[in-house]
Amino acid sequence: MTTKINTHNFAEVVQYALNYRDSYTAGHQKRVAELAVLIGRRAGLDEAKIHELYIGGMLHDIGKIGIPRKILNKKDSLTEEEFMEIKNHPKIGFELIKDENFPWSVKDMVLHHHERLDGSGYPDGLRGKEISLETRIITVCDVTEAMSTERVYRAARTRSEVIKELTAGRKIRYDDDIAGIMIELINTGIYNPWGSS
Ligand SMILES: [Fe+2]
Ligand SMILES: [Fe+2]
Repeated sequence: MTTKINTHNFAEVVQYALNYRDSYTAGHQKRVAELAVLIGRRAGLDEAKIHELYIGGMLHDIGKIGIPRKILNKKDSLTEEEFMEIKNHPKIGFELIKDENFPWSVKDMVLHHHERLDGSGYPDGLRGKEISLETRIITVCDVTEAMSTERVYRAARTRSEVIKELTAGRKIRYDDDIAGIMIELINTGIYNPWGSS
């Protein structure tokens, strides 16, 4: 007999464990999950889908647990080999959870959050509506959160730089409606990691 896991508790435990190893990714996942809930509400999704977005956000980078820390936190630019290794994290994450009783959408968010509408993403080069709505939401939250946070290898992007990237990427890399909602969240100050500046 196999015991089915409680997916919400699983996500919390993963977060707790990851915080010891890679506190940036743990915090990033939490912030992406919270942003995805805000976007999901504004996009009119039902509460079940919104909960899936939360779990997906909390787990989307779980595969980074399989990437050496010296690569994740490298100050200098990555070699091509190192970049290839980082790009494995969606597949590693998917392998970790694929046999567990997560909704299909959560597994998809983990595997496909680096896909882009124009097919330029990875690992599968999916295009447009081949990428699920839930995953398109996580992608916009992921990109926004990552850009607006300081990393060891670069400063945080300013509010106007983040808006510029979201605007430039609408319909090309990012879902038009979802990017629009995100820009509105930033412009109205509902999402404001920059403080009052
Ligand atoms: Fe990722
Ligand atoms: Fe991420």
